[in-house]
Amino acid sequence: MSSRTRSSILVAGSANLDFVVRAPHVPAPGETVLGGEFRTFPGGKGANQAAACARAGGAATRMLLALGEDAFAEPIEDSLRSAGVELDIRRQREQPTGTAFICVSDRGENAITVAPGANSALRPQDLPSLDGVGHLLLQLETPLASVAAYARAARAAGVRVVLNAAPAQALPAELLADVDVLIVNEGELAALAGAEAAIEANLARIGVPWVIVTLGERGCLARIGTEMLEQPAFPVEVVDTTGAGDTFCGALVAALARGAEVPCALREACAASALACTRLGAQASIPRREEVEAFLGQAGIDEDR
Ligand code: RIB
Repeated sequence: MSSRTRSSILVAGSANLDFVVRAPHVPAPGETVLGGEFRTFPGGKGANQAAACARAGGAATRMLLALGEDAFAEPIEDSLRSAGVELDIRRQREQPTGTAFICVSDRGENAITVAPGANSALRPQDLPSLDGVGHLLLQLETPLASVAAYARAARAAGVRVVLNAAPAQALPAELLADVDVLIVNEGELAALAGAEAAIEANLARIGVPWVIVTLGERGCLARIGTEMLEQPAFPVEVVDTTGAGDTFCGALVAALARGAEVPCALREACAASALACTRLGAQASIPRREEVEAFLGQAGIDEDR
């Protein structure tokens, strides 16, 4: 199959309903903090990244996910469908829909605890057909054996495998060998590299062709083969950083699926993730491509792809 007909994106991963409360600061162990208003938002790293791919446009986006038979599933399905994601749901009778409990501080920082529920039931044999798929986007909130099986099948089918190695955990070398593009934050990079060395040194330690590290308000750094690329962050008034990393991953993969050059894809991903930080909630905060283009235009950057 030619690369022209392999244009779609498949995201396989988690979906959660996020229970969010704002507080002056994230509580320390043993501390109780009086917070403010409580709200729920559709979330989950996989679902957030699928929504970010679809909102960035340019490639059809499908998601493999597992949900419970409960009221928490409905807002997640609605959010993904309205973003334009086609859903491949493995419905679980025995497990509730995944949930995440999030405290967002007045500075926009967060602390998250996930109860995986149905996400932990996604099995290796659940992977749908890869016909027409150009990019498979994975994270680590579903069982590692399934993530590894999906990456192996995609590699065998000539599909580009993108792994966001979050939340941080030790990864088998066989999984990393099937990954084409690895996206991590600084902590995840240090954990995978097994060293508290300089970022560039850690990027060189990982045997994946492309490794991209997101650096929050410092932007991102990418090792593309042996070439290093840097993209500074776009300064914004931060409201909530939840889902900013997921927005980066989805926007990046959408741009690559569209055929954008890597510097352009990194720029769009940083811009989309900056915009996501200006709003509350995970999927609720993810911008559409038009907003990203307008934002880049205000920064004096004219995207031509
Ligand atoms: O990356 C942010 C996400 O992490 C939240 O939406 C939450 O559900 C957890 O999966």
